[in-house]
Amino acid sequence: MPLMRICTEVLQPYTRIWRWTKSSVPVGGPAVCVRKQLCRAESSSSTGKSAQERQRQLMARGLPKQRPMPGVKQIIAVASGKGGVGKSTTAVNLALGLAAVCKNSTVGLLDADVYGPSIPKLMNLRGSPEVTTENQMRPLMNYGIACMSMGFLIEESAPVVWRGLMVMSAVEKLLRQVAWGNLDYLIIDMPPGTGDVQLSITQSIPVSGAVIVTTPQDLALIDARRGAEMFKKVNVPVLGLVQNMNVFRCPKCHHETHIFGEDGAQQLALDLDVEILGDIPLHLNIREKSDKGQPVVVSDPESPEAIAYLRVAAKVIERLPAPTD
Ligand SMILES: Nc1ncnc2c1ncn2[C@@H]1O[C@H](COP(=O)(O)OP(=O)(O)O)[C@@H](O)[C@H]1O
Ligand SMILES: [Mg+2]
Ligand SMILES: [Zn+2]
Repeated sequence: MPLMRICTEVLQPYTRIWRWTKSSVPVGGPAVCVRKQLCRAESSSSTGKSAQERQRQLMARGLPKQRPMPGVKQIIAVASGKGGVGKSTTAVNLALGLAAVCKNSTVGLLDADVYGPSIPKLMNLRGSPEVTTENQMRPLMNYGIACMSMGFLIEESAPVVWRGLMVMSAVEKLLRQVAWGNLDYLIIDMPPGTGDVQLSITQSIPVSGAVIVTTPQDLALIDARRGAEMFKKVNVPVLGLVQNMNVFRCPKCHHETHIFGEDGAQQLALDLDVEILGDIPLHLNIREKSDKGQPVVVSDPESPEAIAYLRVAAKVIERLPAPTD
């Protein structure tokens, strides 16, 4: 039973972390996050140097070191500050777009949204990955894209109730314990927000560039700015913004409505000194095809919606720094 083996494999280190977290809280007190534990350890004068040493060791254990991913040429993070702005939909269509624009390229897609994995549904994939003799999970393939997601390892309805460190460790495994093979591009569908998980991904692997997805709405833009600033801080180039759902064109009278505001991302692009890689219209076709697990870039490649994604893919290729072999 490969899934059982993988689950045990994946979960084994968490039980250790969990035990540590539990064992170091005051008796009867709630389990608090490791960061708080560390702060407490630091402020306690009686423990002094040994506490600092312990903190150093714990941080070293908890935070991955940056190491390349052998065989993977370019890693592209698709991020947004906010959830629900179309990040996963963009990640999927961008992955397919790269494969279409850059013929013969090999593309992988990693779903790093451990709490809300969408890739299995969007790529119409289910089932558990096989395990290779090297004890690595084999990605599941559809439409020529190699995919890995926590959704392949747990039941669809199972809630993920892990703490930050467990999630980080899971993401690390999804990156490293997968037989990705040789990839020209690895797209990472990042979880929403700018927390520990996002940071640890950017710090553990060499991300070539980030694509920030936003709607033109103020609330999404505020979070998109945060997302972009985070990447800048950790020296990951922001390749540009994708403005999603900028315009809705009525299929009956062709009247255009800017449901989430008009061109809100333009100002943000100027402020951040980055480009808009493309505008994706709010379109029923995108939502319907996504829900069926047939992304528009493959199911309706001639449609204006698909062409919009293909343009983004072409821009991404243009803006990526040359790979360091
Ligand atoms: N351009 C678009 N037009 C229509 N529906 C879209 C568009 N982009 C995303 N959606 C829909 O919006 C919902 C949220 O998108 P999703 O990609 O899951 O967002 P996120 O990953 O940011 O949470 C999905 O139902 C998706 O099909
Ligand atoms: Mg998503
Ligand atoms: Zn109309």
